[in-house]
Amino acid sequence: MPEPHGGKLINRVVGQGKDKAEEAKRLPQIVLSKELVKEVQNITYGVFSPLEGFLTREDYISVLDKGRLATGVPWTIPIVLDVPENSGVKEGYDAALVDEEMPIATIHVEDIYPYDREELAQKVFGTTDSGHPGVTKVYSMKEFLLGGKIDLIDDPRIPFAEYYLNPQATRRLFEEKGWRTVVAFQTRNIPHVGHEYLQKTALTFTDGLFINPVIGKKKSGDFKDELILKTYHALIDNYYPKDRVIMSILPMEMRYAGPREAIFHAIIRKNFGCTHFIVGRDHAGVGNYYPPYAAQDIFKEFPDLGITPMFFRSFYYCQRCLSVVNEKTCPHRNQEHIDFSGTKIREMLLRGERPPEEVMRREVAEVIMRWEDPFVG
Ligand code: ADX
Repeated sequence: MPEPHGGKLINRVVGQGKDKAEEAKRLPQIVLSKELVKEVQNITYGVFSPLEGFLTREDYISVLDKGRLATGVPWTIPIVLDVPENSGVKEGYDAALVDEEMPIATIHVEDIYPYDREELAQKVFGTTDSGHPGVTKVYSMKEFLLGGKIDLIDDPRIPFAEYYLNPQATRRLFEEKGWRTVVAFQTRNIPHVGHEYLQKTALTFTDGLFINPVIGKKKSGDFKDELILKTYHALIDNYYPKDRVIMSILPMEMRYAGPREAIFHAIIRKNFGCTHFIVGRDHAGVGNYYPPYAAQDIFKEFPDLGITPMFFRSFYYCQRCLSVVNEKTCPHRNQEHIDFSGTKIREMLLRGERPPEEVMRREVAEVIMRWEDPFVG
């Protein structure tokens, strides 16, 4: 099993207790968005190891410029806490982080710093175009960033918590199962046959498969979280060997940062105890912002990542081969190929048509077609 990123699995859960909550109530209050609540959980449970809190200015600049923390450890996505100008918080003091009027954590404020939204967008997303969903989010952030370590005092209420295993739990489980190699699959989608093929091809080379769908804010047109979980159940129940696969959710928002997000996704799965990480075509991409294999190329810059990426060219179904293929395995012309196009699948489902079984398992399609309103609005 790989060491946690940076060497140590972070645990900043200080335990619940009325006195801790009462103390926190007397501190300046910072009200968190639903997505920031998830970041707090990810930091304190070690999913974002070695982070112990929100980035300080020094780390923030280093992440933007080098894709590394100030210590040199790879880290490509800035995990930041944005606050308004008059937040009432002071450097050197504590503040409470509040979810639904309850303090769930405290932050020991190391620094409060201004930042440039366009610079953040350009360096992380490679664009300042507000048509990019990750950039839109950056442009809506508050004026200052607040850096410092945090401590969890109360478990946040996370949707679909019954599907969640923290890194300590997954590491224990992999060990119990005797898996020496585990490949992780990141997804924000319902499974089509291409996804299944990626996972099973990878699983041919490893002991176990860790399916880890991102549950959290997504862009309009993506599938709803609950449906992703239901369709994966249908797929696993019917087509997967149960003793080789674990599914658990990753409560986190999608950023659609393509290459930088691929590195970030790999680091998170290393913390869960995985040895391998699947990167296919246009990983964490959106629109035409990133070349289809940019999220694979970026791994060259991080030879010290500590988790092995497994790269795959784009899969499609070939009507001559009668199987799922890619450009490395099939000699036939494009006319013979059926793509696993998310857009086409969505259009068919919206028309009430079941996608062909070459593209989507019948059991998966049926779950979606029974759903009244499958897409994020
Ligand atoms: S993502 O935003 O989480 O990357 P998605 O859930 O669709 O989106 O993809 C999960 C993983 O499967 C990513 O590594 C992606 O590159 C890969 N992938 C999706 N479709 C294909 C395909 N047809 N061929 C190869 N890889 C694919």
